[in-house]
Amino acid sequence: MRAMARIGLLTGGGDCPGLNAVIRAIVRKGEDVHGHELVGFRHGWAGVLADEAMELHHGTTSGILHRGGTILGTSRTNPYKDDGGSARVHQTLATRGIDALIPIGGEDTLGVARKLADEGVNVVGVPKTIDNDLAGTDFTFGFQTAVQIATDAIDRLHTTAESHNRVIVVEVMGRHAGWIAVYCGLAGGADVVLVPERPFDIEEVCERIQRRHNRGRTFSIVVVAEGAMPKDGHVSGLERGQVDAFGHVRLGGIALDLEREIERRTGFESRMTILGHVQRGGTPVAYDRVLGTRFGVAAIDAATEGHFGVMTALRGTEIELVPLDVALAAPKLLDPGLYETAEVFFG
Ligand code: F6P
Repeated sequence: MRAMARIGLLTGGGDCPGLNAVIRAIVRKGEDVHGHELVGFRHGWAGVLADEAMELHHGTTSGILHRGGTILGTSRTNPYKDDGGSARVHQTLATRGIDALIPIGGEDTLGVARKLADEGVNVVGVPKTIDNDLAGTDFTFGFQTAVQIATDAIDRLHTTAESHNRVIVVEVMGRHAGWIAVYCGLAGGADVVLVPERPFDIEEVCERIQRRHNRGRTFSIVVVAEGAMPKDGHVSGLERGQVDAFGHVRLGGIALDLEREIERRTGFESRMTILGHVQRGGTPVAYDRVLGTRFGVAAIDAATEGHFGVMTALRGTEIELVPLDVALAAPKLLDPGLYETAEVFFG
């Protein structure tokens, strides 16, 4: 690629603490060190379709490192859903003279990036999701912040559960994978953790709670990932039947079923809390600011050196580049050993 180029970037999918750290790093190194021009598309792929963008500079991206959300805005827009979408993307990139594009997102945003790469667009992806379920990288930024928020919530729920002798069911995010649930369950001392990778038996859940109470404990904390399913496959939750542009069902509400079933089967008074988007909002923890910054610097370096069709990744302690195909082959599910460690502390 030519030395001084025009690089586009966008943030797609659910927002995630640390996105602004990535944007700032791309712009800072891209402009100050490589001499590139940086263009930020607004609201994910929607901004590319509508040709809505802003020039990004050192000045316009200062003071954002600690801020949650994304200064570019985001959306779950899928340009391949509508006829002509991909052509419009190519048109915008050509009109704006974009030499390379850095999409920052999860499986959906990077899935679009891979298709564009197949169609000849120079792309370097940056992995983002609080769920930590993208393959090819040990961690995604945003995950540690979500875990910290959920752990703080569990700490608070512990004292109220104990005061009232209640079972409290805490629902955390995690569509395909139970990373947040297991991490905050371990950190917060949960008595049961339910994850999408292991369909649960409600009878077993109640037995565990009963066993704990038989040993003299008067309260329990159950952590459930929003994507967890009972073995019999039936879940009502807050059934809404809504799907997004990538075909994902809108989740949330399994904690409500669990609250009712646990109380009905054990007789212990139960309450549920759905943490929801609280886990995605606000200030990123230091770990996510550092990881986002390292990803941003690596992404702009990769684009400058002409490494395309790849995604930045954390492997051990090093930042590497992995093919988008590797990242998108399948979701990165929970390490069974980690779940077994959490199980040691179950009721
Ligand atoms: O992909 C991250 C995530 O937070 C999932 O855990 C959750 O299922 C989903 O996004 C919620 O999406 P939305 O903000 O569009 O409701």
